[in-house]
Amino acid sequence: MKTALILNGPNLNLLGTREPAVYGTHTLADVQALCETACASHGFALDFRQSNHEGELVEWLHEAGRMHAAGQLAGVILNAGAYTHTSVALHDAIKGTGVPLIELHISNVHAREPFRHHSFISPAAKAVMAGFGVQGYALAVAGLAGL
Ligand code: DQA
Repeated sequence: MKTALILNGPNLNLLGTREPAVYGTHTLADVQALCETACASHGFALDFRQSNHEGELVEWLHEAGRMHAAGQLAGVILNAGAYTHTSVALHDAIKGTGVPLIELHISNVHAREPFRHHSFISPAAKAVMAGFGVQGYALAVAGLAGL
């Protein structure tokens, strides 16, 4: 059974109380439970993580690259939070490992402030999803199964 690695970046630990009009009222634990169900139905083992630290996300992408090379990983679903709009390091980590990755956003970043319209992740991602709320995580798992 291959693993789906779902990585969440800064401030996503605040889901549930963080700007509920934008991100909804589900907590990150709720999102993890939703991902467990989606992964079970697609035959993936789930590895679900969150970090507020850019370097830790980079290290996890390196780990993902090694797992993918060993045939153990289906791919990565990454909600990089605000690092989406700032991080050349995450871009380089995705490119450098060659790991198949879906960029995910809960909100429709293109309908928000102009600084959210640019992504350093998108040019290195296989697919991009935004605006489906937390249900987007389950849709991304289905997408990963089809990649
Ligand atoms: C986000 C959108 C980003 O612009 C923001 O910085 C986040 C969350 C989303 O899921 O909609 O932290 O990635």
